[in-house]
Amino acid sequence: MPEMPTLSGLPVLGCLPELGRDRLGLLLRAYREGGDMVRVPLPRRRLYVATSPAIANAVLRQEAASFMKFFALARLSRPVLGDGLVTSEGALHRRQRKLIAPGLTRREVGRYADAMARHSEETQRRWSAGETLDVHAEMTRLTLGIASETMFGTSAEEHARAAGDAIHAATSYIAHGVGALVHLPLSWPLPRHVRMRRAVATLDEIVFDIIRERRADPSPHDDILGMLLAAQDEDDGATMSDAQVRDEVMTLFVAGHETTANALTWALYLLARNPEAAERLADEARSVLGGRPPTLGDLPALPYALQVFKETMRLYPPAYMVGREATAPVSVEGWAIPDKATLLLSIYGMHRRPDLFPDPERFDPERFTPEREQALPRGAYLPFADGPRVCIGNHFALMEGQIVLAHLAQHVRLRSRAGEVVPPQPRVTLRPSRAVSLEVERRRAGREGGDAAAATRSGG
Ligand code: HEM
Repeated sequence: MPEMPTLSGLPVLGCLPELGRDRLGLLLRAYREGGDMVRVPLPRRRLYVATSPAIANAVLRQEAASFMKFFALARLSRPVLGDGLVTSEGALHRRQRKLIAPGLTRREVGRYADAMARHSEETQRRWSAGETLDVHAEMTRLTLGIASETMFGTSAEEHARAAGDAIHAATSYIAHGVGALVHLPLSWPLPRHVRMRRAVATLDEIVFDIIRERRADPSPHDDILGMLLAAQDEDDGATMSDAQVRDEVMTLFVAGHETTANALTWALYLLARNPEAAERLADEARSVLGGRPPTLGDLPALPYALQVFKETMRLYPPAYMVGREATAPVSVEGWAIPDKATLLLSIYGMHRRPDLFPDPERFDPERFTPEREQALPRGAYLPFADGPRVCIGNHFALMEGQIVLAHLAQHVRLRSRAGEVVPPQPRVTLRPSRAVSLEVERRRAGREGGDAAAATRSGG
């Protein structure tokens, strides 16, 4: 077997400080200095970073059975997510995946297109000309609205505020824990822990309340909760317990809304910095939709909107790395990985490999025309990972991105006043490190986007 390259680091601490301070820099350095696979020196831990389509395929697909989810993240998320799809393993995970996947196929998620379009319409209507938006806050509000409605229908409306605050508190706890060096038990009475426990109690109360209401009301509900309650194992006819439904609801909610909010925020940021792409997107949307919100049937005619969303997730993949722990000694692509070692697939680094994506820092949605996307080697583009644990919400997320971007583009142009650069911040997901502030310019109704925009600019 070849000798594994080791990344340079400090004596004793190795790359630990860098992992905390500049994780994205470390991922890029791992590929630049070590290539496909490199060992990252750390105290008391075996850590490898892989930046290669073939290794990603091996870890996520062929050898998936020799790996489990990255333990630290799973443990930190467990109080909120319980034994939902993100945190469960083995037989439970397989059974739950089989129950839930049929409700989230490309075909099935089509029923949520109207809710996505309606929330996009409400969002753009709220924005007035000249206003400066906190884009991340706006996109979080939008994706929360879409997640609540598609998950619970109208059952959650009265709880939206309390649930939003509790989810925020819970995700901050997990994000803090992922960056921390030591993990104290949640039962210890630190303020952060108390907030977390309160948030979990609030979420439990809301979700169990809604489940109880639903169980008492036999009329069918066309939302994700309805799908979970009705899901039945095709072999033994078993359904989920309330506790399992609670875990899956929480999981889909948490896994789905922040990732999508980040991707949409980065898309609007990139469009503001790339006016040509923004105009092309607006032209496409206006010629197909003429101002009205998109429907499911419009999506095939809006390919550029989808390309913009995909190219955004190449540059800013919300899940910028995917962690696995070996459950036995395993060989991947000729590299020996010992039992219990942690392997990070560097999605961020992969998406910036110049041999896979020439001129990688350039935002170029043309990379994702169907022909060019198909020509990429499998494993080169992994915003949703791959294999038996591929993101179960990927069709949902892609449709949401396409609808939101197309609809917003036909009504507004968002501009960055100072051309400000916002670096990404790698937490649980890849977020903007500070506010993305963009100014709203309204486009006039109709198709003459360029003229209308010029008039708005000169007329104030
Ligand atoms: C742009 C948006 C999204 C991105 C980038 C994203 C990314 C990912 C990635 C990379 C994974 C695999 C993680 C791993 O294997 O370690 C994953 C898993 C998952 N995602 Fe997403 N996701 C997005 C949206 C969604 C949405 C909208 C939902 C729910 C409707 C969702 C639900 C899940 C669930 C339940 C899993 C765990 C699946 C399993 O392990 O079987 N995600 N996501």
